[in-house]
Amino acid sequence: MSAATVRIAPSLLSVDFARLADQLAMIEAGGADWLHVDVMDGCFVPNLTFGAKVIETCRKLTALPLDVHLMVVEPEKYFDSFAKAGASVLTIHAEAAPHLHRQIVRIKELGCMAGVTMNPATPLDGVREIAAELDLLLIMSVNPGYGGQAFIPASLDKIRRARALLDAAGSRARLEVDGGIARDTIQACWRAGADTFVAGNAIFSAKDPQREIAALRALCAESA
Ligand code: DX5
Ligand code: ZN
Repeated sequence: MSAATVRIAPSLLSVDFARLADQLAMIEAGGADWLHVDVMDGCFVPNLTFGAKVIETCRKLTALPLDVHLMVVEPEKYFDSFAKAGASVLTIHAEAAPHLHRQIVRIKELGCMAGVTMNPATPLDGVREIAAELDLLLIMSVNPGYGGQAFIPASLDKIRRARALLDAAGSRARLEVDGGIARDTIQACWRAGADTFVAGNAIFSAKDPQREIAALRALCAESA
């Protein structure tokens, strides 16, 4: 796969909300590909974040595709309002969605890309039967709920197996990684077959976030 297909998705979770408009303009000018939006309900994960109003606000502030990661129970309750608010990708957790096929179909009907993700402890088998239908498969490389956590090394092997699973199914889904992505982890993930990278802390705590986006991308290009 060519480095041209790399997507860097800075995570809204690490933005300074007092300067939201400036920060979104800054990452867009700095070459970010997507904006990752972490929706947490305080139930599926022990933290609470944003809903449709914030998605709608981001939609007004940036032209970047909005990559919405739903860490919520009963995610289908939010599909219509999030799609209407401007979400481009809706990614749901396999652990929270027993009717994955139906839900993927519904997300696509709403005009969004359909993604599925799973926690580090959840085996990939749960997505095998629907791999060909996916627009995105997200491998969580931390336990979801918070930014700034350390990358779980075993995720690399899972990324490799996810790549093989997608290829075997003839799926054109993007393979995204979320959690602990930084200069010291991104290249191994790229080599393992990932093409889309969420980064919160690494980008927004850097002195120069635009330079950080370029550095992360270059590490993939370097090893292409
Ligand atoms: C964690 C979220 C991540 C988070 C990543 O539950 O899903 O998207 O923002 O943050 P970093 O890159 O700081 O690990
Ligand atoms: Zn996320």
